[in-house]
Parts: sequence; structure tokens; C-alpha cells
Amino acid sequence: MRHTSPLDNLLSEVGHTLNTLFARASTQTLHSVDDAALSDSERKLSEGLMRVNHTGEICAQALYRGQAFFAKTPEIKSHLLQAADEETAHLNWCQSRLTQLDTHTSYLNPFWYTASFSLGVIAGAAGDAWSLGFVAETENQVSEHLKDHLQRLPEQDQTSRKIVKAMLDDETRHAEQAMSRGGRELPKPIKMLMSFQSKVMTSSAYYL
Ligand SMILES: [Fe+2]
Ligand SMILES: [Fe+2]
Repeated sequence: MRHTSPLDNLLSEVGHTLNTLFARASTQTLHSVDDAALSDSERKLSEGLMRVNHTGEICAQALYRGQAFFAKTPEIKSHLLQAADEETAHLNWCQSRLTQLDTHTSYLNPFWYTASFSLGVIAGAAGDAWSLGFVAETENQVSEHLKDHLQRLPEQDQTSRKIVKAMLDDETRHAEQAMSRGGRELPKPIKMLMSFQSKVMTSSAYYL
């Protein structure tokens, strides 16, 4: 088997980044729906919330990839990469839904990808226990957002609701798996900082 150099790893990471940020998702993964039933204000709401969820999934890709880059053991590295793979399905669902709603993804995604990848690298470098604790806290905070979105999404928008429900199930499982693999609970100030960063992301991605 060919040995992969740091340059190979770096180039493969750049390829993954470009693919995450700029690949167009197929809309075939979703059932077709009659969005005509949505009023203008309901549609605007669905667009904004699904754009936030899409950016959240861009961040999830970047965090997991950044953490895997510096994971200390092969087991944790492959766990993180597998989780990132599962997040790819979420990313595609959100992207497809935005295409169906005929709206754009967030213009700030390249910034959020870079910021999240850097955060992931810091978490990964802090050691596997902290890194897994960081995964658990991220997934818990995402789950809270998704629960809030389920309250706010228009009742008529069954397609978006179905996506958000499926994501919520997966994110809850991701948090549990990270803790059961040895994740360490993060200190409260770090949790508060993460929550602040996610507030900035959600309020900007809703519009931009
Ligand atoms: Fe996700
Ligand atoms: Fe997740």
C-alpha cells in the first residue's frame, strides 16, 4: 500500500473542503412535495431555517474533519471520519431542500467552514477525550436548535420537518456515542463560548 505523505493528506483535505462548499446536491433523495401550499411568509421562514441547518452541517463537516486531522488514535480518527460521512447525508438533505425552495445557501459558508475546521483542529490537538467531549457538546447544542426549529417550521412544510426530525435522531445518537467512547464533559465557559459562536452563526445564516 502506498504511504500517504502530509502533502497528500493536505491536498485530500482541500479537495474535501471544496466539495463540501461547492458541490450541488441531487434532489432525488427527497420526496417531491407541493410547496404551493406554503404562504409567502411560511416559505421565507422555511428558507431561513433550512439555510441555518445547511450551514450547521457545513460546520459539522469542518469540525469533524479538523478533529480527525489531529486525532491521537486510529480508532478515534476512523470514528470521527465515519461520523463526518453521516453528516454528509444531512448536508445533502438540507441542500436539496434549499434547491426545492429555490433559495441560496449561506454566502458566509466558506468563513464558517474555515472557522469550524480551525476549532476542530484545536479540539483534536487537545487530546481524544476532550475532542470527543467537544463532539458531544456540539451535537447537544445542535439538537437543541433542531428541537426549536421543529416548533417554528410551518406545519405545512412536511418535507423540511421530516429532514429536521431525522437529523435530530442522528445528532442525539452522535452525542451519546461520543460520550460512550470516552468523551470528557467540557468546562462551562467553553460551552458558553460555543453557544455564543453558534448564535452568531444561526442569526447570520438565516438572512445571509
Ligand atoms: Fe448533522
Ligand atoms: Fe451529528
